[in-house]
Amino acid sequence: MTVESVKPHTPGTPGAPAASALREPPLAGGAVPVLGHGLRLVRDPLAFMSGLREHGDVVRLRLGPKTVYAVTTPALTGALALSPDFKIDGPLWESLEGLLGKEGVATANGPRHRRQRRTIQPAFRLDAIPGYGPVMEEEAHALTERWRPGETIDCTSESFRVAVRIAARCLLRGDYMDERAERLSVDLATVFRGMYRRMVIPLGPLYRLPFPANREFNRALADLHLLVDEIVAERRASGQKPNDLLTALLEAKDDNGDPIGEQEIHDQVVAILTPGSETVASTIMWLLQVLAEHPEHAEKVRTEVESVTGGRPVGFEHVRSLTHTNNVVVEAMRLRPAVWILTRRAVTDTSLGDYRIPAGADIVYSPYAIQRDGRSYARHLDFDPDRWLPERAKEVPKYAMSPFSVGNRKCPSDHFSMTQLSLITAAISAKYRFEQVGGSDDTTRVGITLRPQNLLLRAMPW
Ligand code: HEM
Repeated sequence: MTVESVKPHTPGTPGAPAASALREPPLAGGAVPVLGHGLRLVRDPLAFMSGLREHGDVVRLRLGPKTVYAVTTPALTGALALSPDFKIDGPLWESLEGLLGKEGVATANGPRHRRQRRTIQPAFRLDAIPGYGPVMEEEAHALTERWRPGETIDCTSESFRVAVRIAARCLLRGDYMDERAERLSVDLATVFRGMYRRMVIPLGPLYRLPFPANREFNRALADLHLLVDEIVAERRASGQKPNDLLTALLEAKDDNGDPIGEQEIHDQVVAILTPGSETVASTIMWLLQVLAEHPEHAEKVRTEVESVTGGRPVGFEHVRSLTHTNNVVVEAMRLRPAVWILTRRAVTDTSLGDYRIPAGADIVYSPYAIQRDGRSYARHLDFDPDRWLPERAKEVPKYAMSPFSVGNRKCPSDHFSMTQLSLITAAISAKYRFEQVGGSDDTTRVGITLRPQNLLLRAMPW
């Protein structure tokens, strides 16, 4: 299937269904009076989103008084992500802006978004990644050296720590980042926990009351913003201009050729660090869980690493040859995608497939549901890294595996993320095998990302 074949039709353009032929998407079953589908969505969002394709390719959901459209097929999620008729907007983004800032790339639209992407893109290009190799290697090996054989690893804090350290050290380069990265990881873990609560249960003024949880959240959020100010101020004071993302932001110009404002620089750093840590940290947690749950794959990864490295410490230059390791990472991301829900808003009356979408409509789709759909994957719930071998991978329908999304909002960090995830998986598997210990809970915790509730593993030398 080509991109063209799933392009949304604009009513009135040649080949598109006439506006009159478009249908209103069906209402998904199971709505109850007043709350509509809201209760089911809040109670078990993953099961709810996964069941929607039974009701249609595009369906209407009632969330209280509001109608939201859900897209359920791979082809139409690709069409949605690629169409200029939809933008980033809606309640999810508004609450993110309120907490993290209004001028960052993740929430901007139109010319400002294009300009911001041009500024940050060079730091994530394929040819920039080897420059990050030494930091990624150092951090991956430091992780295994922190662990003592037989000791219990708190996978949540360890995963956050390494993800934040790699993003901060690579993209905001500087010696001082070591200490700051620690503070950042503690702040971000608290901020993300509180943010999800505020997004799904919008109790407004109640979050301003001086409860311990609110105080902890406010302290972490304030420290996050303070840290970013410190990082920017220190870089300026140093007079140094290393070739990194922070220099690109400090030197960026707006469309008139004037330097961008202080607020935009600040919000941009926040907008890059926050998605960059939570997503990678959650994926590392799932990779650790997979290695514990599937010892046969852990063993296969270890053997592969040994044969590729000849027993030397795994390095950046080995990553491309670690086929099975890379496939383990992709398969873990298929079954446990960090980003499980995405939203858009229609900027005009438009269509998806044969369905009419009115201007202003909020649209959701779930990479989790798409990537676990039995219509796209044989034995869809099995953990099977070999499905990513080239001869089998070509059977996967287009857009049925797009964990970094596609189109103009595609994650800039796909190469950066995949490299570090494979390197970390290889480094920890070369040294340890893992088993869950009492008190560990690897059930899925639904938040801004998906991650295990509280994964505790024992690391055992091979
Ligand atoms: C956007 C996934 C890691 C920075 C996105 C989007 C997805 C995604 C799906 C698109 C959101 C949308 O369509 O609305 C992931 C996954 C990651 C990851 C699965 C790792 C496993 C990172 C890292 C960074 C980063 C490490 C930065 C250091 C961003 C930014 C955007 C974004 C800045 C906004 C792009 C825009 O709106 O133009 N990510 N991401 N991500 N991601 Fe990532």
